[in-house]
Order: sequence, then C-alpha cells, then structure tokens
Amino acid sequence: RRLRRILSLDDFETAARRHLPRPIFGYVSGASETNASLRDNRAAFAEFGFVPRVLVDVSQRTQETTLFGKTYAAPFGIAPMGISALSAYRGDIVLARAASHANIPMVMSGSSLIRLEEVAQESATAWFQAYVPGEPERILALVERVERAGFDTLVLTVDTAVLANRENNVRNGFSTPLRPSLRLAWDGIARPNWTVNTFLRTLLKHGMPHFENSYATRGAPIMARNVLRDFGAKDHLNWKHLELIRNRWKGRLVVKGIMAKEDARIARDAGADGLIISNHGGRQLDGAVSPLRVLPGIVDAVAGSIPVMMDGGIRRGSDVLKAIALGAKFVFVGRPFIYAAAIGAEAGISHAITILSDEINRNMALLGMTSLDELRRDRLIPLARS
Ligand code: FNR
Repeated sequence: RRLRRILSLDDFETAARRHLPRPIFGYVSGASETNASLRDNRAAFAEFGFVPRVLVDVSQRTQETTLFGKTYAAPFGIAPMGISALSAYRGDIVLARAASHANIPMVMSGSSLIRLEEVAQESATAWFQAYVPGEPERILALVERVERAGFDTLVLTVDTAVLANRENNVRNGFSTPLRPSLRLAWDGIARPNWTVNTFLRTLLKHGMPHFENSYATRGAPIMARNVLRDFGAKDHLNWKHLELIRNRWKGRLVVKGIMAKEDARIARDAGADGLIISNHGGRQLDGAVSPLRVLPGIVDAVAGSIPVMMDGGIRRGSDVLKAIALGAKFVFVGRPFIYAAAIGAEAGISHAITILSDEINRNMALLGMTSLDELRRDRLIPLARS
C-alpha cells in the first residue's frame, strides 16, 4: 500500500503535494510574507547536536509523559489546525480518533467545519482550541459550551490579534468558502481522488467547506458562521479577557502563542496551567524567531511552576528530543498530521504517530537514556553557524 513507502514525516508532505489541489496544499504548507519564520522553525533545530552516552542498559526505556495528571504514550500531540476537513474527509474527526487510539492529545481547532461536540465524543484525548470572540457574553457562552461538550483542556490562541498577510493564499487562489473558478475546476479534475473522496463527500454532508466556527449557531448564514468574522473584531483582546475566561473555566487552561518571557510570566500569574511557545508555524508575524530559540529563557522565567510546551518545525524524533532537552515538557506537530490525514485518513495519521514515536524510542536508546526526565540541556551542544 501507499503508506508502506512513507518512511518519515516529510514523505507525507511529498505525497500530499501530489494529492491536494494547489490552493489547499498552499494553504496548509504556506506561511506569511517572506516565510522567514517558517524557515527559522526548521533551521533552529539544525543548530544543535547531541552528545550521546553509551553502555547504559536501555532495555526498559519509555517515552510515556505525564501532563496535567494524565499519562500519554508519547511526548507529542497534534496541534490545532483550522479547516482540516478541506484536506481530509471530516479531518478533525479522523485526527481525534487516531490520537485517541494512540493515547496522545489532539487539539481541535476552533475554526473547524465539524462541531466541537462531535469531536469530543470521538476522542478521549481531545483538547479544544479557541479563537476568543470579541464580546464577553460570547466568550462565556463558548466556554460553557466547551465545558458541556466534555473537554477538560482549553487552549487559547493569542498570537492572532489580526490575521497575517498570507500572500500565498491569494497567489494560489485559496479562499473560504472555496470560490468556483476555472483553475479550481482544472485542479479538481487533475486530482480526482481528493475531488471525489474529500470535496464531494464534504459538500454532500456539510455544504461548501469553509472556516466555520465549530461553535457557530446551526443554520446561520455561512458568513455569520465564519470564524474570520471574529478575527476582524478582536484586536482589542487583552489580559483582562484571559482573566475573564480563567474565572469561568474550571478545566486546564493553556495559552498558545507565547514568545516573550514577560508574557509567559503574566500568563502564569493570570492562572494559565500551561503554555505553548509558538509562532503559529510561521503563519502570523513573519520574522518572529523559532520558538526553540526562546524556549530555554521562558523555561527559566517560569522556573518549573507550569509546564512549557512548544510547536513549530518538528519533523523528527530527534527534534522532539532537542526541544525536551531545552526544557519543553511536551511538543505539538502540525502540518505533517494534516498531510497524513489527506493521504491515508485515520490509518495515515496512525502511521505518522508510529513513525515519530519509533524515532523517539530508537533515539532514546542511542542517546543512552531510559526516560525523558533524564534529558537535560547538557546533552546538546550548539553547532558553529556556517
Ligand atoms: C494552523 N495553526 C493553528 N493554530 C491555532 O491555534 N488554531 C488554528 O486554527 C490553526 N490553524 C492552522 C491551520 C493550518 C493548516 C496550519 C498548518 C497551522 C498553527 C498550528 O497549531 C501550529 O502552531 C503549527 O502548525 C506548528 O508548526 P508545524 O508543526 O506545522 O511546523
């Protein structure tokens, strides 16, 4: 089968490039403006090398990681990604199921075609990510609904005061709802597998796929359900809104998109239970540095009081291990899981999870360690820049 030829997470990207129409592949793979942050997210990992230990009995090693009182099978989860259902039929559902079977967290995006209650039902390990609406009443209504659906962890993404300048979406003809055009029609004919199995099936079940709020009112007109509406109306959001949510939300509260030490401390003091250091996969402020570069400083700034997680550019088990060595408690991986969903639905995602956790397991043995707690900064050395 097709999946047998996929040996690394990057192989999913190569396969997805052939499978997905150009606007969709461009939307997933793309970033903002010059792609400087996207490149730095990969480059930062290459700037560290390992110092392995040898002749350690590693026969009993484990990568299990306990986070917020739950033990997960691996130190990574699936990052929230909007409109996953455009890349794979009911993408959020297949991502949630595969993650649940593998016992790793999957963060459901708030800009999803699938309703949040459905995803909660499909998974024992799903978290919910919200783009907070502008008005306090709507914020509280959302928090209540997320709680009623049964999610125990709420992720607030805070790096989207406004939408970034994603030129590639314009260049590739991506829009939501997808606008019919000759180019899109041609793309659809050239990619019949996606057209029939993802697009037409989605159209029949949900109507034209777009950036729906997973918490939209059923039956409201498309543009009123569009999450992009909230983007335009929330550049006034501030720490007071985080406090409002903290006062109402009883579950775990994670703040995603922190890059500055000062913000890490403020978020912690405002009651965040965890942080995800992230530059949104290079999709927001172009030129924002890789989260890996600010990770050690933030870990020191919050001094072990709350878990610090990160995402951006993780493609190998060795990347996961480098992030952990620099102080991350947990990491998230984005694009490769969407590509895996596009290529192989649930089986594809399970394959991607297996590849990454096999790499971690093998590399732990080669580093001479039996648990991730043993991994410290002294196992890495910075490489001289060329
Ligand atoms: C994202 N990301 C994102 N983040 C978020 O908080 N809410 C969202 O709805 C989305 N949507 C989204 C869509 C797509 C297609 C991508 C690729 C990314 C950002 C995501 O959660 C994560 O921060 C990055 O994708 C991590 O970088 P890598 O692993 O893709 O390099």
